[in-house]
Amino acid sequence: MLKIDALDVRYGAVQAISNVSLTIAAGETVALLGANGAGKTTLLRTLSGLVKPTAGSMTLADNDLSKFSAEARVRQGLIHVPERRRIFGGLTVEENLKVAASAWAGATADLTPDLEKVYTFMPRLNERREQRGWSLSGGEQQMLAIGRALMARAKMLLLDEPSLGLAPKIAHDVFARISDIAAQGVTVLVVEQNTTLALKLATRGYVLETGRIVATGTSAELLRDPKVREAYLGRT
Ligand SMILES: Nc1ncnc2c1ncn2[C@@H]1O[C@H](COP(=O)(O)OP(=O)(O)O)[C@@H](O)[C@H]1O
Ligand SMILES: [Mg+2]
Repeated sequence: MLKIDALDVRYGAVQAISNVSLTIAAGETVALLGANGAGKTTLLRTLSGLVKPTAGSMTLADNDLSKFSAEARVRQGLIHVPERRRIFGGLTVEENLKVAASAWAGATADLTPDLEKVYTFMPRLNERREQRGWSLSGGEQQMLAIGRALMARAKMLLLDEPSLGLAPKIAHDVFARISDIAAQGVTVLVVEQNTTLALKLATRGYVLETGRIVATGTSAELLRDPKVREAYLGRT
């Protein structure tokens, strides 16, 4: 589904991503782990077309992503749920969901089936459908951000720290919904500092340190890896 080869990304003098290669098969859920500043967000922003790489290649279902604008990547089903959600605070839950469908839907499209699917999946959003984004709790905002990805008809989801700022129980609920989405065949790349949660969801992972991949393996292998344990498990 996704193939990244020898990717470099720079911000001026800062090399944020160095020689990163990774692959994700269709339907797979993969975790990208690393401390603050490791380059996780930069990698997702490069995939979604917000940042241009300085070297390397990225393909989605064998299509060279560099040929597509950020909007065109969304139309292909590559959906980025950014750090801190970025939902529209002034719009209601339902308006937020409808706007997200604009990737594929014309002005007159009937969004009812897609909305019903999201509401069935996350009943909490149904209860809150007339409420403004700003009035939602952190967990509800994260659910809405995921609902927006569903409305965009995601084939490949890029999730940036979905557990950030959430109480453990709420983070657990959010991850349960992500797991349900993955079970429907959506391919998922989840970026997390919460290693335990991410590796419970994913079957495999990569560890990023100052822009380089320093470890990779199945979730069980990474959880056993003394280097990973020492660096990351202490802080989850
Ligand atoms: N817009 C930017 N301009 C310059 N440097 C940036 C920018 N965004 C991130 N960086 C730097 O790139 C590195 C990786 O950051 P980031 O991708 O946000 O890491 P993470 O998401 O893993 O915390 C850090 O050194 C950060 O300071
Ligand atoms: Mg980040």
